[in-house]
Amino acid sequence: MKGVILAGGLGTRLRPLTLVTNKHLLPVYDRPMIYYPIQCLLNAGIKEILIVTGGEHAGDFLKLLRNGKHLGVKELAYTYQEGEGGIADALKLAEDFAEGGKIAVVLGDNIIENNIRRAVADFFSQPAGAKVLLKEVDDPQRFGVARMEGSRIVEIIEKPKAPPSNLAVTGLYLYDNDVFEIARTLKPSGRGELEITDVNNAYLQKGALTHDVLDGWWTDAGTFESLFRASKLVAEGGANHLEPGKARQEGVAASR
Ligand code: G1P
Repeated sequence: MKGVILAGGLGTRLRPLTLVTNKHLLPVYDRPMIYYPIQCLLNAGIKEILIVTGGEHAGDFLKLLRNGKHLGVKELAYTYQEGEGGIADALKLAEDFAEGGKIAVVLGDNIIENNIRRAVADFFSQPAGAKVLLKEVDDPQRFGVARMEGSRIVEIIEKPKAPPSNLAVTGLYLYDNDVFEIARTLKPSGRGELEITDVNNAYLQKGALTHDVLDGWWTDAGTFESLFRASKLVAEGGANHLEPGKARQEGVAASR
């Protein structure tokens, strides 16, 4: 399976920091934010990675990541998103890279403590469809949130004012190749973007969406509060990212 890291956007919530570089190159404790999603994919055995970026500072990625060999990446590819069309729009650019296969998608500002190796392996044996990874949070209104009936997801709601659960849909997604077909059918949301939540709901309607709940901590890093939290969580240890190649192997708690 190949991996795709979505690292575009203007990072407006982190201005003025993002006036001079891309959000995903800002420091999280002792390394650039983008190192964590790269490590997350490597820890899951995914070594062919596409970075989708955009904006004025896209060149900075090449300076930092070069061909990725020093990080253990086998093939590092880059592509450039024109405009600010949203996560699902950025994903469209990965179609050729995917070569008809399944992909693991990670939002470039998502950082996890543990390893998604088991979820990736489960998805590999899932004949088709998609898998999302959920995590209990205190502030679900900031995220896509799963409405549950028992252990089944029945709907995902993007940034609900009245969250139906505390289960956020994290920015770690596993898709079969239908994702590109689905992305083509999407219409922009109220914020003018193609929403990844609409992609996930399309899979749900086909009865083709499975999920796991992540164990260990998960955080995004797209606001000052969450960026600080991410640095603190990494600094306090527990993250498996600080020693590349020596990742813990816990995986996720299965709850499909
Ligand atoms: C995006 C997704 C949201 C998801 C979140 C995870 O939100 O739209 O569904 O829960 O990432 O980080 P955004 O960061 O674009 O507000």
